[in-house]
Amino acid sequence: MLKKATIEDFLLKAGYSAKAAKLYVNRVNVGSIENPDVTSTYTGLLCGDTITLYLKLEDQVIIDAKFEYSGCAGTATSGSALTMLVTGKTVGEAWKITKDDVLRELGGLPESHCADLAVNALHKALEKLKEKQTTSV
Ligand code: FES
Repeated sequence: MLKKATIEDFLLKAGYSAKAAKLYVNRVNVGSIENPDVTSTYTGLLCGDTITLYLKLEDQVIIDAKFEYSGCAGTATSGSALTMLVTGKTVGEAWKITKDDVLRELGGLPESHCADLAVNALHKALEKLKEKQTTSV
């Protein structure tokens, strides 16, 4: 098994920023949430990479966000950046998060479409949340 420092070096050489490489080796927000308010799974059309997003809310504010993934380091780092960005945001603010916000948070990515995957998973989760809240009124 590769050591953390070796993986980090490899990612830096592959074009990831120092921040993205750190997020990857530290697996920031990778995991699930017990009793989430909403989950969504999104598979990228280009490469088949998948993110499952878990959100916990309180009074329309996202208080916790985690994700599981299968795929590349870009998917993993985009999931970490996205979950960091949404935590503490209202649902309305979360809708406004874009691929560019994720890329900015990461200092860019070798394959920018990985950031789309994370944002699409978020939008799918927010859609589900809207449906859930509309049907429970
Ligand atoms: Fe397709 Fe990363 S290479 S999501």
